[in-house]
Amino acid sequence: MQVKIVENKSEAEELVLNIFKETLTKDNPVFGLATGSTPVGLYQKMKDSDLDFSNATSINLDEYVGLTKENDQSYHFFMNHNLFNDCKFKQNYLPDGSATDLFKECARYDQIIADNPIDVQILGIGENAHIGFNEPGTSFESTTHIVDLQQSTIEANSRFFDSIDDVPKQAVSMGISSIMSAKKIVLLAFGEKKAKAIFDTVKGEITEDVPASILQKHDDVLILIDKEAGKLL
Ligand code: GLP
Repeated sequence: MQVKIVENKSEAEELVLNIFKETLTKDNPVFGLATGSTPVGLYQKMKDSDLDFSNATSINLDEYVGLTKENDQSYHFFMNHNLFNDCKFKQNYLPDGSATDLFKECARYDQIIADNPIDVQILGIGENAHIGFNEPGTSFESTTHIVDLQQSTIEANSRFFDSIDDVPKQAVSMGISSIMSAKKIVLLAFGEKKAKAIFDTVKGEITEDVPASILQKHDDVLILIDKEAGKLL
C-alpha cells in the first residue's frame, strides 16, 4: 500500500490522469469508477484532457435501489452528467437499481466484472471507511450484493437530496472481493472528515468493521490524500 500526501486535489487528479493515460495504452482497458463528490474533479480533468476513452470500458461500483436511470439522484444520472455525456467510452456499466429481480441483477453484474477484469479501480471512502457501498461488517468475500445503508451513510449522503427521507435505504454494490480483483486500486480522500477512516484503513487492524482496511492486502494500492485527510497518520 503506497500512501501519498498531495498538496491539493488537483495534484492527486493529475497523478490519476497519468495512470489512466498509461492504462489506455493496453488493449481493452477497463476502468472501475466511483461516485460521490471526491472524484468529480478527476472527471472534469478527464473531460478536459485529450485522452481518448472510446476503446475503454467503465464499470461503476454501485447504484441506489429503487431509482431509475433517469432519476437525477441516481448514480446513472450522476455519471452521465459528470462524465459520460462528454467523455465517450466504448461501454459504460452500472448496476440497475430499478431491476425487478435484484438478485438476478447482482449475478448479471458479477458476470460483467468477470468478463471485463478491472485494470484500475478508483475509490472514494465513506466516513465509516465504506468503499462502494460496502458498510462495516460486510464480508471480505462479498461479490455484488444488496446493501442496507447505515444511518450514518444515509445522513452523509442526504446532502445530495431535498430531504433525508428521500435518500434510498438500500443500494446494489460491487462487493469487497470484486473490488479486490482489480489489478490496481487508487483511493482518493480529501478533508478532515476522512481522517479517521484513512487512519483506520492504513494503520488499523484488517477487519470487516473497517471495510477499506482489506486494501492493506492488495499488492497494488495507491492512496492519494491531502494533509487534512492524512492528519492522524
Ligand atoms: C457514497 C459512495 C462511495 C463514496 C462515498 C463518499 O457512499 N457509494 O463510493 O466513496 O459516498 O462520498 P464523497 O466522495 O462525497 O465523500
